[in-house]
Amino acid sequence: MASTVTMTVNGKSVTGAVEARTLLVHFLRETLGLTGTHVGCDTSQCGACVVHVDGRSIKSCTILAVQCAETEVTTIEGLATEDTLHPMQEAFRENHGLQCGFCTPGMVMSAVDLAKNNPDPTEHEVREWLEGNLCRCTGYHNIVKSVIAGAKSMRG
Ligand code: FES
Ligand code: FES
Repeated sequence: MASTVTMTVNGKSVTGAVEARTLLVHFLRETLGLTGTHVGCDTSQCGACVVHVDGRSIKSCTILAVQCAETEVTTIEGLATEDTLHPMQEAFRENHGLQCGFCTPGMVMSAVDLAKNNPDPTEHEVREWLEGNLCRCTGYHNIVKSVIAGAKSMRG
């Protein structure tokens, strides 16, 4: 049976019809058309679907849309302003932290949460934090470099 859910997504209040079993990732992508949040596995392993719910990074394939009623959700589309990338996005661009880009939205969202709580992370801490985010393209070296650089520019 469908029900209605209301939440704030990227600063705007949104309301949509969902089934009780609808995952947040499907609500974001299919109802709201926010396809920057990717589905890489649907089994909580890859991290391509990471968004922020009330400021904390979460795999949006592990939570139901109805559980997010009245929360504040931020997706990758909500990070940049009209003409300026978020410092973490800029750092990924500058440090070649993306290859095909499929994992990048989840990496960036996880990295922003890390940098908020740990503004000066070591390489080891970044690698540990990103254990739940898989990149199938190449090694993680440039991703880690990007996160360290992004954290640095976030602290100004
Ligand atoms: S799609 Fe959510 S962890 Fe892979
Ligand atoms: S850049 Fe291709 S999966 Fe990570």
